[in-house]
Amino acid sequence: MGIIQLKSLTKKFNSLAAVDGISFSVEEGEIFGFLGPNGAGKTTTISMLSTILKPTSGTALINGFDMIKDKADVRKSIGIVFQDPSLDEELTAYENLTFHGVMYDLKKDMRERRIAELLNLVGLEKRKNDFVRVFSGGMKRRLEIARGLMHHPKILFLDEPTLGLDPQTRANIWDYIKKLNENEKITIMLTTHYMEEADKLCDKIAIIDDGRIMALDSPQNLKSIVGGDVVSIKSPDTKKISNAFAKEKWVNKIKIHDGAIDVSVNKAEEMLPKLLKITNEIKSEIISISVHKPTLEDVFLHFTGKTIREEEASAKDAMRLNRRLWGR
Ligand SMILES: Nc1ncnc2c1ncn2[C@@H]1O[C@H](COP(=O)(O)OP(=O)(O)O)[C@@H](O)[C@H]1O
Ligand SMILES: [Mg+2]
Repeated sequence: MGIIQLKSLTKKFNSLAAVDGISFSVEEGEIFGFLGPNGAGKTTTISMLSTILKPTSGTALINGFDMIKDKADVRKSIGIVFQDPSLDEELTAYENLTFHGVMYDLKKDMRERRIAELLNLVGLEKRKNDFVRVFSGGMKRRLEIARGLMHHPKILFLDEPTLGLDPQTRANIWDYIKKLNENEKITIMLTTHYMEEADKLCDKIAIIDDGRIMALDSPQNLKSIVGGDVVSIKSPDTKKISNAFAKEKWVNKIKIHDGAIDVSVNKAEEMLPKLLKITNEIKSEIISISVHKPTLEDVFLHFTGKTIREEEASAKDAMRLNRRLWGR
């Protein structure tokens, strides 16, 4: 059925269709990635799903509730972390969480229990009485995630959760996101323009470009659409090897060039022994073997004819959105 179901969701800004009639489902318990370049329509989509922005047409069901008719129920079902930090720097971590819990009417003992649980989940229990202003970027992001979870939402929206963080901190945030997906059994929909993030973290990925969904599948399947992994074998016997490989139905594609043969297969690590068994049987000499795994960059290029340029997600964009969403 899908815990999130988009139905021809559309947002127009004057003549620009920022989100252009998109329909898809996110299954319960998934980490779902919304991958696309700057300006693709990711934040606009998340803003609509979290009831902050009204769609021009179409709708979505979230946890069974209609985002237009049952706004309050949708809001109770979701937690949101936007790409721009919005913690109170002059409060401690504990106070930030308390404030949020009070806003959601959590009773004191339940609130205290939840705060302890979440601080533990994001590894900040020892820092709970420190002011947020002394926190690193990664710690702030973790605290924001904890805050988004205070009211036990079934779905968590994360808009560019690691934007502007260094690679090590980014990997660290991925671990926390994975952990809370498992521990809290929560469905996570995140947006990102980082290919590696989508690949490492997500069970499913929708590729969005110019407000349209270009592809939707698991990272593994998306990569195999591009033709799978490429095993490159250098040998004086390329012709003979090529003829032998061509008989196997699990070989997707064969290309000979410069004394090497490129074989496209799914899951190269499992197919390598099979390939070697064949070259052994036909007694072909092998000089070297290398494996190239397609990346989501290859997938993105395949579906859009463009490459994603990471540096394009600008701080200016984040500021503009923040003003739009919160009137600041
Ligand atoms: N309030 C707005 N007014 C006019 N255009 C907007 C507004 N918000 C977003 N856009 C435009 O909509 C498109 C999608 O923006 P956005 O959803 O922020 O993309 P992403 O989050 O994928 O970077 C962009 O072309 C952006 O300039
Ligand atoms: Mg955005």
